[in-house]
Amino acid sequence: MKRRNVLAFDPQGHLVSQLSEVVAGDQTLHCVDSLAAAKKILSRDHCSVGLIVLDAPTAQLQEEIERLIAGAPTTEWIGIVSPKSLESREFQVFILNAFHDYHTLPIVPQRLAMSIGHACGKARMRLSLVSEDATAGRFGICGTSPVMVKFFRQLEKVINAELPVLIGGESGTGKELVARAIHNFSSRSGKPFVVVNCGAIPTNLIQSELFGHEKGAFTGAAQRKIGSIEAANGGVLFLDEIGDLPLGMQVNLLRVLQEKAITRLGSTLSIPVDFRLVAATHVDLQEAIRAGRFREDLLYRLNVIHLQLPPLRERLGDVRLLAETVLKNFASGTQRRKVSGFTSEAIGAMEAFQWPGNVRELINRVHRAVIMSDSKMITAADLGLGGFVQENQGVTLEAARASFERDIIESSLRANGNNVSKAAQQLGVSRVTLYRVINKFNIELSSKVSSPIKAGVCRA
Ligand SMILES: Nc1ncnc2c1ncn2[C@@H]1O[C@H](COP(=O)(O)OP(=O)(O)OP(=O)(O)O)[C@@H](O)[C@H]1O
Ligand SMILES: [Mg+2]
Repeated sequence: MKRRNVLAFDPQGHLVSQLSEVVAGDQTLHCVDSLAAAKKILSRDHCSVGLIVLDAPTAQLQEEIERLIAGAPTTEWIGIVSPKSLESREFQVFILNAFHDYHTLPIVPQRLAMSIGHACGKARMRLSLVSEDATAGRFGICGTSPVMVKFFRQLEKVINAELPVLIGGESGTGKELVARAIHNFSSRSGKPFVVVNCGAIPTNLIQSELFGHEKGAFTGAAQRKIGSIEAANGGVLFLDEIGDLPLGMQVNLLRVLQEKAITRLGSTLSIPVDFRLVAATHVDLQEAIRAGRFREDLLYRLNVIHLQLPPLRERLGDVRLLAETVLKNFASGTQRRKVSGFTSEAIGAMEAFQWPGNVRELINRVHRAVIMSDSKMITAADLGLGGFVQENQGVTLEAARASFERDIIESSLRANGNNVSKAAQQLGVSRVTLYRVINKFNIELSSKVSSPIKAGVCRA
């Protein structure tokens, strides 16, 4: 049974013991007394339910809580509120807008447990919709194009199949990312993931790298060394660029796959190993067999399941999503936060480009553009794709609407000195809705928006 995380933000810490009695056996409770700690947990683990203890919170704290809630769209929130707070009309609006449910103090364990149970169910439904949703991709891999949706379906079947997998695809298409997903999402995730790049190790060292050696096995073997295959015991061994494995070593690998045991160099002891083999290649191994560089019997062993990653030019529909994801991840870790998106001409140019270096090239171009860009929006020229700007490029209604929505929100925030409450009022939406759109468009809010919570309330 999968455990569910339940976050509880209890600023005074009065309810911790009561709450821990309320959560069910399959739920893990994380109690925090500060918003900073709550954010930290949400960034690390998915929480199905968030409980927030509220006793007449200040407007400032309400705003902070709204931001926390908007930042965790697949968590269901329950307010645990004092009867006194509910007397305020403003507070009632806050509860209605921001929370899935509320529970009036004192805690009635059975009723709260039921409410948490419902919220867990709702969160599970929401999460399954989001992970299947066309907004991101699956298994930490971006993609919503038909070829990638098909790929995800295959990957899903492969993950727990326990058979060797061979991943093919041009350079930079995400082969290592997929190998890691096979490890991370399988039952071996708690065990090692060991990567060996067969093309990067000198031929004379590869045997000891894979199989390990005993002290004194050869000149220079001063210590015993555990090889990569042994190190992957219980987990996944990822042999990258398997096409570069020397022929002699291919025989040894074949033997390991048959016997499920290794012998360290300089030893005669056979050590049993249990690992799942995932291999990747950017070359055509059938061709390598014809050229006498690869053993056919090894290919049959490796190729029990074959996953082929399509080149980026065959999934240009994913380019925008990939570029925006890369920008979001990169800009948040740099000083260049002011760069917040791409001009439509830049998107058009990216969708017209053939991407010989695939996703890795896209990442490099976006990173460089973030550094080089002089304005808030990255242009085709910033990406080095000035020659790919399309004439009379059609703008979809959806793109035009999004651009208009974004502009109007930015101008309203500017007009209201970045005060989200005032902007929300002016635009006729709730603050929670506005925060959601701000997150969606990655609009940068300066620290002026909300001042830090009072020290007495929050003990981070
Ligand atoms: N669909 C994707 N979504 C998000 N990131 C991706 C995707 N595909 C690739 N990447 C990223 O692109 C980069 C290159 O991917 P990766 O190293 O897995 O490619 P590769 O196929 O192993 O390339 P090579 O053949 O050159 O070793 C990595 O930073 C990876 O995280
Ligand atoms: Mg690779």
